[in-house]
Amino acid sequence: MTAVVCEGVRKEFREGSLLKRKRPRICAISGVTFQVKKGEIFGIIGPNGSGKSTLIRILATLLIPDQGRVEVFGIDVVRKPLQVRRMINRVSVDAAFFKGLSPWENLRYAARLYGLNPKEAKERSLEILKRLGFPEARFYDPIEDLSRGQQQKIAITRALLTKPVLLLLDEPTTGLDPKSKLELQGFIKTIRSEHDVTIIITSHDMSEVEMVCDRVAIIDQGRILALGSPRELIANYGMGNLEEVFLHLAGKEFYA
Ligand SMILES: Nc1ncnc2c1ncn2[C@@H]1O[C@H](COP(=O)(O)OP(=O)(O)OP(=O)(O)O)[C@@H](O)[C@H]1O
Ligand SMILES: [Mg+2]
Repeated sequence: MTAVVCEGVRKEFREGSLLKRKRPRICAISGVTFQVKKGEIFGIIGPNGSGKSTLIRILATLLIPDQGRVEVFGIDVVRKPLQVRRMINRVSVDAAFFKGLSPWENLRYAARLYGLNPKEAKERSLEILKRLGFPEARFYDPIEDLSRGQQQKIAITRALLTKPVLLLLDEPTTGLDPKSKLELQGFIKTIRSEHDVTIIITSHDMSEVEMVCDRVAIIDQGRILALGSPRELIANYGMGNLEEVFLHLAGKEFYA
């Protein structure tokens, strides 16, 4: 079964201040075509500004593509965004919180929005946070006092409260220490096997992508340059690992 279909997707933005009369267009993604199978962990890698977050935001119904077709489990993201939103959840590097409130207050708020039972939401949150190595003692401290990695773990917990069938992870491990990174990578695999969820993940950590993803799309300047399992890509390009394939295709000078 196909979880995600992207066909000929294009998205342009206008550059510069809204006050300027002439604002050149920037093409963030163009001619992007791929499919993700149900239950797959699908990686998107590419240099800064290559269009990864734009693609994730289109799938999350936060941006409307200029061209092309995007479907999540057969539902069109442009025509039926509300139906799509019920199936997905997204974690981005810049997750929004009520910073003065505690993790639990933020999660309780999310649970209420989603119509979940607060007691069950709390149990589930604590269980997820424990597996992510979040110190339970900080569950009631203001979010603004927590480290970036700790905040990231709360964002991940919030995304999992609703048990989405499609989970969109935009750089979920950026800012995490090596131990927390490993815990989260393991956890991503576990939720896939335990909860029957399809996952799309972006990352700048090539070893992570190699370890976690079933298939990977390498994009540069809004276009897919290669797509396949990490093993296929490494073999096809005769490289030693995914990082070498990435640098070979996307060019060293672009990757900061
Ligand atoms: N709202 C916006 N307005 C104007 N340009 C935008 C907007 N969002 C993204 N862009 C541009 O679109 C291009 C793709 O950006 P995008 O955020 O998708 O890249 P990315 O691959 O996620 O990069 P990174 O690795 O740095 O997160 C960039 O040139 C960016 O400047
Ligand atoms: Mg991004």
